Amino acid sequence: MIPHMHFLLGFLIVIVVDIAATTTSYESVDYQKAKNLTADYCYARSYAEVPDIIKKCKYIVIVNFEVPAGNTLQLHLQKNSVLLIEGTITFGVANWDGPLMDIAGENIQVIGGTNHLIHGKGEKYWDGHGGGGVKKPKRLMSINVHRGSFTNINIKNCPMFCVSIIGNDLTFSGFNIDLQDGFKGGLAVNTDAMGFVYSDNILIKDSKIWNQDDCINVMASKNAVIRNVHCWGSHGLSLSSGLSKTDENNDIHNITYEDCSIGGSLNGIHILTMPSGGKGKISQITYRNIEIKEVTMRGIEFRQDYLDDGHPSNNIKIDGLTLENIHGTVTSGAVGVYIQCGSGSCTNWNWSGVKMTGSKKKDVCNFHPEGYSC
Ligand SMILES: *[C@@H]1O[C@H](CO)[C@@H](O)[C@H](O)[C@H]1NC(C)=O
Ligand SMILES: *[C@@H]1O[C@H](CO)[C@@H](O)[C@H](O)[C@H]1NC(C)=O
Ligand SMILES: *[C@@H]1O[C@H](CO)[C@@H](O)[C@H](O)[C@H]1NC(C)=O
Repeated sequence: MIPHMHFLLGFLIVIVVDIAATTTSYESVDYQKAKNLTADYCYARSYAEVPDIIKKCKYIVIVNFEVPAGNTLQLHLQKNSVLLIEGTITFGVANWDGPLMDIAGENIQVIGGTNHLIHGKGEKYWDGHGGGGVKKPKRLMSINVHRGSFTNINIKNCPMFCVSIIGNDLTFSGFNIDLQDGFKGGLAVNTDAMGFVYSDNILIKDSKIWNQDDCINVMASKNAVIRNVHCWGSHGLSLSSGLSKTDENNDIHNITYEDCSIGGSLNGIHILTMPSGGKGKISQITYRNIEIKEVTMRGIEFRQDYLDDGHPSNNIKIDGLTLENIHGTVTSGAVGVYIQCGSGSCTNWNWSGVKMTGSKKKDVCNFHPEGYSC
């Protein structure tokens, strides 16, 4: 748990770039249409060409190169840029902090071409210790974007975190994040797949993820939908708050997970708050139509005692938690539903159609949601 913690805090240490919001809209360009415009694109076929090309062009293709070890592929794009990714983009191996890629801009579109691959070479770093082991680039793709879309992105073997997002009005669709190579021996620890913080109006949809930490993790953000995302091997469809002792921005509001599945994971649905963290509120949260399979620890877990087992605290309130049509299985030694609320801190929990099977153990609940008997 400690490396996990370390890792989550690492995620928070990012620079928030504030770009003034404007109202220009862009014409959405899909890949085929984009390819038809190919003559007008500037091609970067090596890492060295990238800085000039992103200064000169708004229609950019990055194709088939390796980023030299210890460098970040900086893609600070001009406003209204379109970035296509083709071939395989890899990264030389070095024991440094990363990120491997850093994408920033306003009103941008990033589209992956058929058969492209962003390969983080995680297999060269994984040691089963995540943030506590050899130094690894913490993030494969750091995103700081205001308004835009990321479509059909294939990612393999992130050394640690895969995609870390800060921004607003963003759509992520067709992500394919494959860290199955790290399943052997459980080596790919702390490989959270997609997480966002300080963000507003985020949609993540139609994606498949195989990893070994949170599949999707929502922190200090509002107005997000995660839909039709399918995860295997991870820690959960998660919300995390109060992870920092100094940060007072711990509110999570209006988040919906729907039509998702998760399996072979430690947890399915997963909300955690940390007693020694700051104050805050988690409100208007919905999980709807979620299928949970073969979870090994807790199928549905809400705990306010993160890193302080058995001592839940009420520094972060959880008000308005709706669960609808959640079903699935846990392994026999796992717990179906686990609720550890701080004193008086859980209110307006309304559940319907929640059924977890497979456990030989009883649910553990110190708070009883409306519509579910623990
Ligand atoms: C791409 O170009 C071809 C040939 O000109 C055309 O038939 C097709 O409709 C175009 N596709 C898009 C999506 O613009
Ligand atoms: C919740 O967030 C979603 C996604 O941004 C948005 O469409 C919806 O209007 C929000 N609902 C409320 C009640 O704020
Ligand atoms: C709980 O949710 C159900 C439907 O999901 C709704 O009919 C009911 O009114 C809700 N109850 C409360 C107390 O909000």
